Amino acid sequence: MSLPFLPYTRQSIREGDIRAVSEALQDDIITRGSRVDAFERVIAEYCGAQYAVAFNNGTSALMAAYFAANLTPYDRVVSTPNSFIATIGSAIHSGIYPHFGDIDRNTGNLDLHKLKSVLDFHSTRGRLFVVPVHFAGIPVDIQALDRLLRSQIDFVIIEDAAQALGSSYSDGTKVGCCARSQMTVFSFHPAKIITTGEGGMVTTNDPELYHRLRLFRNNGIERDPPYLKEEPSPGYYEIHAVTGNYNFTDFQAALGMSQMRMIDKFIEKRRRLVKQYRNQLYGILGIKLLTDEFDQMTAFHLFVVQLNFARFKTNRTAVMEKLKKVGVGTQVHYIPLYRHPALSNYYPEDIQEQFPEMEGYYAEALSLPLYYDLNESDVERVCHELKIVLGIN
Ligand SMILES: Cc1ncc(COP(=O)(O)O)c(C=O)c1O
Repeated sequence: MSLPFLPYTRQSIREGDIRAVSEALQDDIITRGSRVDAFERVIAEYCGAQYAVAFNNGTSALMAAYFAANLTPYDRVVSTPNSFIATIGSAIHSGIYPHFGDIDRNTGNLDLHKLKSVLDFHSTRGRLFVVPVHFAGIPVDIQALDRLLRSQIDFVIIEDAAQALGSSYSDGTKVGCCARSQMTVFSFHPAKIITTGEGGMVTTNDPELYHRLRLFRNNGIERDPPYLKEEPSPGYYEIHAVTGNYNFTDFQAALGMSQMRMIDKFIEKRRRLVKQYRNQLYGILGIKLLTDEFDQMTAFHLFVVQLNFARFKTNRTAVMEKLKKVGVGTQVHYIPLYRHPALSNYYPEDIQEQFPEMEGYYAEALSLPLYYDLNESDVERVCHELKIVLGIN
């Protein structure tokens, strides 16, 4: 009997989730209803933020965050190249090609020591937007980032925490509390810690940003009397911005609330699996693991290894294909953003030389399976197969 295929990620859906969604589908209101409000309150409370606004995915949640903070073409955006396009997509829509900082190969996150020179080098007539990503769930040192930016006159921090629901900073507060940022963005894609199928959320402590996030979500429709230009009356509304429809449904919210009941278990299991991976792969020449320094603060979304393919006389494609044949799914997180054709024309040809750590990381990165329903014997199997493929005895 062949063993089951282990994808690099997958959702965990249980009976309770199915029941919750099916109940929600029997409500009179199935979108923009009270379950959405309730899910927003659950996330806000969990993160320790005052407000949360749900969106139909993490990408639109990021778009909303840039909109809420009023990004203009005069502003400058600085982010990490080790991410998914959605992190900076909105900036590009606004005609801004972001500047990147190099990463720290120990965490996959922005190297804050190198960020200062990026900030000094690229001046702006407008404001500075810094968009850190908590890569794989590993928290960026937000206090250090805040200290670094204090010398800037006008700055906005939007945290891309698509991968980090449940992670904490070193002072014990949760990612998403927004104590040192204007907004934090989450994704509930099936690969993430909890899922709503598609879904996203922005947390904030600023009532004006909260208002603008909600405005963005629903086609820029304004119904709130203090904001209206004309006298309110039944059925009256005004369009205050042309945005689009990014609403979240009540049955997704029901799934999200049901998943949130499991979040501690989800995180704890993922941590346990990461620990087991570490035990199996630690100390092998040619295999570099991300630091374990933040393990107790991290809700792990990914488990990435950096493999010195040349040392093992192979390459990533061969390793991925061989692993796939024996039932192990892998993925690459991430191709540096500046390398993608949609962006590369806007950067100097030799841009890769400015990011030695990102390039070194990218040459070696491989994500191994990590999800709640994976078990210890699966991790053992993945490591066993990986060692065979790499020729490690
Ligand atoms: C870092 C990061 N940012 C943004 C997103 C976008 O989220 P979504 O897939 O929900 O649109 C993702 C998820 O793929 C992500 O990993």
